[in-house]
Amino acid sequence: MKRSFSGIQPTGDLHIGNYLGAIKTWADMLDRYECFFCIVDLHALTIKYDTSLMAQRTLDAVAVNMACGLDPKKCTIFIQSHVKEHAELCWILDSVTPMGELGRMTQFKEKSKSHPENVNVGLFNYPVLQAADILLYKGEVVPVGDDQVQHIEFSREVARKFNAAYGPVFPECQALLSNAPRVMGLDGVNKMSKSLGNHIAIADPADVIRKKLATAKTDPARKRRTDPGEPTKCNIYSLHQFFSTPEQMQWVEEGCRNAGIGCLDCKGVLADNIIAVLTPIQARYAELKADMNIARRVVAEGAARAQRIASAVMAEVKDALGLYTG
Ligand code: TYM
Repeated sequence: MKRSFSGIQPTGDLHIGNYLGAIKTWADMLDRYECFFCIVDLHALTIKYDTSLMAQRTLDAVAVNMACGLDPKKCTIFIQSHVKEHAELCWILDSVTPMGELGRMTQFKEKSKSHPENVNVGLFNYPVLQAADILLYKGEVVPVGDDQVQHIEFSREVARKFNAAYGPVFPECQALLSNAPRVMGLDGVNKMSKSLGNHIAIADPADVIRKKLATAKTDPARKRRTDPGEPTKCNIYSLHQFFSTPEQMQWVEEGCRNAGIGCLDCKGVLADNIIAVLTPIQARYAELKADMNIARRVVAEGAARAQRIASAVMAEVKDALGLYTG
């Protein structure tokens, strides 16, 4: 089986963009790949955060991912900072990475703009740590949303540069996109994102989901119920694609085009369908939250498994580099 690696930050509410763009694909891959999933707490240090919440959020992220279908018997789930080789390999890969390439990374440019008061070296170096995450396990397939594709291409370049300089150690990784690589936020303008607050969280209760959808943007040209709408320009319609049946899609499309249904009817059906998908996930999440020792055990075992591979790959890397290892 090919090895797959992916990661997620423990930065607050995981949302349906994370679910559709990444976590759902991860759960679907378990029988076909040897999968590693990492809660990337070291990456999360690059923006300001509340230290009193970090540990809890990290374990919560483990529980949410398990509730969404990551079965720890079929994959390795662990926390990045528990395997110190991630930071070690990052430093080594730094030495084959041109500064210019990091400066051109979209995420770096965006985050530097949105957090001008905190443009730190970690933010700049973020893609190298991400490359280290993947290469440490010789990951070949990396299931991500489209905002991460540039980082995966960068990781492949880093592997090429390392191999060219020191010999063939790393495979070349490929991004794997789901059918929802870029889920739009409820503002209808930006990608769904926890930092923009335009999201439906996986853990949102039914009434919160209904309220959030009620105020969500639709086709900007449709002002009244009696206007014909254009489903392809409507963000709500794009969400229906991931949650609704073909019959419901047809009902929405026709009803919208001939003004036979109002946005509230359309949003109501979407809310019902999202709630139907999230309810069993939330029930499993509640069970896991009731006994966080389950998540603690999963990441302890996961770190031990990850560590064995990380140590072996680091030995290979150090050998290739010609370091004296004693
Ligand atoms: P993060 O934590 O921002 O997001 C986790 C995953 O969710 C996807 N995603 C989305 N997909 C579709 N639509 C959206 N609106 C949406 N929002 C988020 C992301 O693309 C991602 O796949 N740098 C990474 C974490 C990381 C990583 C890695 C990933 C660290 N090391 C190694 C892969 C391999 C990040 O910040 O993801």
